[in-house]
Amino acid sequence: MNASDVFVIGGGIAGLSIAWRAASRGLTVTLADPDPGSQATRASAGMLAPVSEVTYTEEPLLRLGLASLERWPEFAAELEEKSGVPVDLRSDGTVEVAYDADDLAQLDELAAFEEKLGLRVERLTGRQCRQAEPMLSPNVRGGLLARDDLWVNPRRVTQALQKAFQNAGGKIVKEHVTTLDGIEADQIVVAAGAWTPSLLPGLPVRPVKGQILRLRGPRGFLQKCVRGRVRGSDVYLVPRDDGEIVVGATMEELGFDTRVTAGGVYELLRDARELVPGITELDLAETFAGLRPGTPDNLPYVGRHGDVWVAAGHHRAGVLLAPLTAEAVVACLHGEANPMPECDPSRLDTERI
Ligand code: GLY
Repeated sequence: MNASDVFVIGGGIAGLSIAWRAASRGLTVTLADPDPGSQATRASAGMLAPVSEVTYTEEPLLRLGLASLERWPEFAAELEEKSGVPVDLRSDGTVEVAYDADDLAQLDELAAFEEKLGLRVERLTGRQCRQAEPMLSPNVRGGLLARDDLWVNPRRVTQALQKAFQNAGGKIVKEHVTTLDGIEADQIVVAAGAWTPSLLPGLPVRPVKGQILRLRGPRGFLQKCVRGRVRGSDVYLVPRDDGEIVVGATMEELGFDTRVTAGGVYELLRDARELVPGITELDLAETFAGLRPGTPDNLPYVGRHGDVWVAAGHHRAGVLLAPLTAEAVVACLHGEANPMPECDPSRLDTERI
């Protein structure tokens, strides 16, 4: 008899969600991570924003994002009920704003693309942007309102997931797993984010550094999630219920480098201040850098890989895709078809031909 039915390696939002859902469906689950929730999920702002984050040529990712977004309200409600931890799921809408004429031209193109895909976005004048979010600068030229995008506090989510998982009978071992050899379990799930290739060497997952800041202000300083383009650079400001504003994020291809740099902090504050000048009065509470697990086609790997299951490579969408990923892996663990076939690692074979 094996020690567990399932052994999950990695306690980020993907691994924890899978572990919780698997334990809730009656499996005996052990999860290993030296410090759950301490890497990419800790850095994440928690935007559940398939509409605002839509990118040309990435319609498959959009479809997955929309499917997972639909699952988030129920996932969050059940998680809060089973853990007693509020996860601060917000549905006040996202304003996407443009700073200069070129930024506005790009945003107009994006709006046309979103409309073509049938997504619900409203175009706003500069004045309407400020009516939607009064802290926006008078220099904001115009924007879009994405009413359906949500956001959540990922740090609360990982705290809640650990409790809910343990309440469902799951076991967390605070260990760093360096080899798959000798693991006593019927099935293994590798959800180790950017570190996944250290266990599964053929899988092309790479670290994409994101520097992020936390400011502390009065509650309600921002009403909405603000995403903006400032002279061609992207920045976002995500408010929490306790007055915290998360400002992010850089995108840097520097390997396993998690240094917070003066340049990274400067660029984020410079662009964020152009959109919301009042942030200069807030406390700079935290600087942090995390490593998004990137893949060559920006889709995650979810499915069978050799002798194990994998759920990694969620890049910019780990928090958004957590409910769908958990559902998919738990279906696979029960011998059902993979509901995320476009993410099956077997696509690597085709890529290599
Ligand atoms: N999804 C936001 C980011 O990766 O920065």
